[in-house]
Amino acid sequence: MRVLSGITTSGVPHLGNYFGAMRQHVAHQERASEAIYFLADYHSMTSIRDAGERRDFVRTLVLDYLACGLDPERAILFRQSDVPEVCELQWILSTVTPMGLLERSHAYKDKIANGLPVDHGLFAYPVLMAADILLYHADLVPVGQDQKQHLEMTRDIATKFNLAYGEVFVLPEPHILDDVAVVPGIDGRKMSKSYGNTIRMFDDEKALKKSVMAIVTDSTPVEEPKDPGAVVFQLWSLFASPEERREMAERAKRGGLGYGDVKKDLLARLLAYFGPMREKRAALAMQAGLVEEVLAQGAKRARALARPVLEAARAASGLGPAR
Ligand code: ADP
Ligand code: TRP
Repeated sequence: MRVLSGITTSGVPHLGNYFGAMRQHVAHQERASEAIYFLADYHSMTSIRDAGERRDFVRTLVLDYLACGLDPERAILFRQSDVPEVCELQWILSTVTPMGLLERSHAYKDKIANGLPVDHGLFAYPVLMAADILLYHADLVPVGQDQKQHLEMTRDIATKFNLAYGEVFVLPEPHILDDVAVVPGIDGRKMSKSYGNTIRMFDDEKALKKSVMAIVTDSTPVEEPKDPGAVVFQLWSLFASPEERREMAERAKRGGLGYGDVKKDLLARLLAYFGPMREKRAALAMQAGLVEEVLAQGAKRARALARPVLEAARAASGLGPAR
């Protein structure tokens, strides 16, 4: 079985990315016979325009993945743009993708609804994502709920190609990670780079404290009962056992518990949980050339898987000389 997933390199990863994606990716490397993860820098071009920033985010994410336990010997970790074959496949797939399918894309519709300018890159984003998945014959694609529509589109696009030119592509199964609820941001909306409401697990202690103290709370006095579903409790729960969560919910309902104390405990748990990873990350960051070495190895392995699939798509659709 082959598991594949990607993360757009459009910012510094946060608790939402960790609990919603990265942690699962690391867990899959133990189970899957082959795990493939990539840093989607082509995709980041639909949201950021700063070249230096794009490179920095790739480096950051590689170090974060390694610190979180991703083993580049076992899993393949590569930078999307190091295997540009994906762009050729994107073109081939775009010719079997109905406009109507892309017009129904949430990401595109949301931008239009918010009156924001859209470019062809954003419109074609789902086709590039389909190419990412189909180029590696991925069986299973673990993603958050927000990516479900993209996976349905991938299956549709693969079916269209196979009907037109023969069975070249494997239809991937989505694996929606709904065991992890959406992690809320410090303002109560979904935690997201684009809302500036994140807690970045590898920030230094001072910055982490600042983020935790900024978590929204209501003005319920200490002695009054609190809603155990409040944002601060949801974030605290990420670091607590089911037993601890039950106890905390009871204490909240009883009253006498201050939000400040919960925040302090959350900060302590955050530091303890990510402490060893933080140390590992600092040591990795000191190793000159490590990131590019890991990426070069990953690209080599990814390319070896991608080439024959692209060749099969080219041959089936009549590109290049007859074989
Ligand atoms: P962002 O919204 O911060 O830009 P991405 O879209 O790059 O995050 O998401 C990368 C991965 O992290 C996806 O698989 C996504 O489902 C997951 N993810 C992002 N934010 C959250 C969140 N708040 N809770 C749970 N999972 C999340
Ligand atoms: N669109 C995904 C996100 O924003 C990232 C991504 C790009 C991806 N290509 C993919 C995820 C292929 C899974 C498979 O999170």
